[in-house]
Amino acid sequence: MPKVIICKTDDEVAKKAAAIFAKQIRSKPDSVLGFATGSTPEKTYAELARLHKTEGLDFSKVRTFNLDEYWGLDGDHNQSYRYFMNDRLFKHINIKPWNTFVLDGTAVNPMLECKAFETKILAVGGVDIWLLGIGNNGHIAFNEPGSPVDSRTRLVSLTQSTIDANSDGRFFKNPADVPRCALSAGIGTVREARKIVLLATGSKKADAIAAALEGPFTPDCPASLLQDHKDCTFILDSAAASKLKKKY
Ligand code: GLP
Repeated sequence: MPKVIICKTDDEVAKKAAAIFAKQIRSKPDSVLGFATGSTPEKTYAELARLHKTEGLDFSKVRTFNLDEYWGLDGDHNQSYRYFMNDRLFKHINIKPWNTFVLDGTAVNPMLECKAFETKILAVGGVDIWLLGIGNNGHIAFNEPGSPVDSRTRLVSLTQSTIDANSDGRFFKNPADVPRCALSAGIGTVREARKIVLLATGSKKADAIAAALEGPFTPDCPASLLQDHKDCTFILDSAAASKLKKKY
């Protein structure tokens, strides 16, 4: 079962998560890191940027892979996940742009794009740590409920719940503006990471977190499919942990 760390605030969640990544980079400077987008990891990226600036945390040999990208958006679109990563993290650290891999939402052949992504992960020896968020419905990356445990990187459709959550003004202003499809690493792809760190903050995530940790192992809650991972840690704030019944 995942290890669970409950923090008082989302600032504390970000500090803990960034410390895990910093330790990884210091012990293996050419680490392969998996990253996520969304509001939840923003403070973690700000903390990593701070560690780079103030303590010289060195990203010069690090390679990164992102979980997903909206289908149809190019990397210059301000809601694309490539734009998000450049804006929140990459431009603030000394990572080499050619070592950052974000699926291309405008690829002519999505199947080839997804295959190339998986091949690239294998070519660099697999992902050392993958940072994840969680959707209100328990999705991880854009693996919506029903996604198989062995799913690979592919073109997927988004559920209305995810479209609505991402058009509440934080990102898109209007549900009609949200792409209906995305390229997403599969659950099988993510589960192959040697270590997984899932972050959740805020009460909107409380049901999904309870289902992921204390419900059955089922594709109905994609994050529950991490229950049997050998090295998975959930870092939660007290609001996201508020519906857990067990003591951690
Ligand atoms: C999107 C992303 C997920 C992310 C989720 C939650 O759907 N594809 O990777 O975990 O949103 O985002 P937030 O952190 O903004 O709640």
